[in-house]
Amino acid sequence: MTDTKTLSQHGNRTQTQQNEATEDARHRRHRAKLYAAIRDKERKRIARELHDELGQQLTALQQGLGVLGIRLKRDRPDLDDEIQRLIGITHSAIEAIRDVQFGGPIGRLQHGLENSLKHLVDDFKRLSGIDCRCSLPPALDLNTDQASHLCRIVQESLTNILRHAQASRAAVSLEQRDNDYVLEISDDGRGFTLSDTLPDSTGLSGMRERGKRLGGPVIIFSHPGQGTIVQAIFPAAHRV
Ligand SMILES: Nc1ncnc2c1ncn2[C@@H]1O[C@H](COP(=O)(O)OP(=O)(O)OP(=O)(O)O)[C@@H](O)[C@H]1O
Ligand SMILES: [Mg+2]
Repeated sequence: MTDTKTLSQHGNRTQTQQNEATEDARHRRHRAKLYAAIRDKERKRIARELHDELGQQLTALQQGLGVLGIRLKRDRPDLDDEIQRLIGITHSAIEAIRDVQFGGPIGRLQHGLENSLKHLVDDFKRLSGIDCRCSLPPALDLNTDQASHLCRIVQESLTNILRHAQASRAAVSLEQRDNDYVLEISDDGRGFTLSDTLPDSTGLSGMRERGKRLGGPVIIFSHPGQGTIVQAIFPAAHRV
């Protein structure tokens, strides 16, 4: 009898704990949604200010460098490469501001995913001087949401390589394997220990979040001294 009572009390407790966990999860989802909306509004405000304040100055800088390049071309042709490099960097900075404003490479998605990915890789190569292969399937069937999540994962991975990896080579590949797409961004840089990163590390957790929206995991393989691979696997037919 006592045993039955204990069991039923235990059952009630388990049920209460489950209810609390469901309620907690609901709250967390609600907070995350709210947070995302606030962040989006703030992002747009910052983008506007960046555009108005910095955009014009950078454009003036780009034009100034262009004029300088023309003037120096005759007397100091040896400086031409360097000036062109500075013009390239200024151009990228202007594009980066435009990206913040229009949602990044997603703004370019109207010209196709393949184009956006190639653009990301080209920018990366130009800014970093790191060799980067890009291999894509002959045909891609992804909707705009999927394409934008995918672009953002590639963008964040390449930015991480640029900022942290000290790599000499990188690669971006997307393949279709049966009903799945497999995206991989790899580098031969210094690697890192995943457990040493903060659990709410914005870049990595953002990629995992995008993976969820794509319907699959984002797995990071890395080890000090052995480079890094960011892999996202998601179903081809998943509609977000
Ligand atoms: N390809 C890489 N090679 C070496 N270390 C990396 C690489 N990618 C990530 N890391 C390490 O993981 C950490 C977390 O990455 P994450 O992208 O979350 O943050 P972050 O790049 O430092 O800042 P942000 O939130 O602006 O992206 C980095 O600080 C870095 O130490
Ligand atoms: Mg990062």
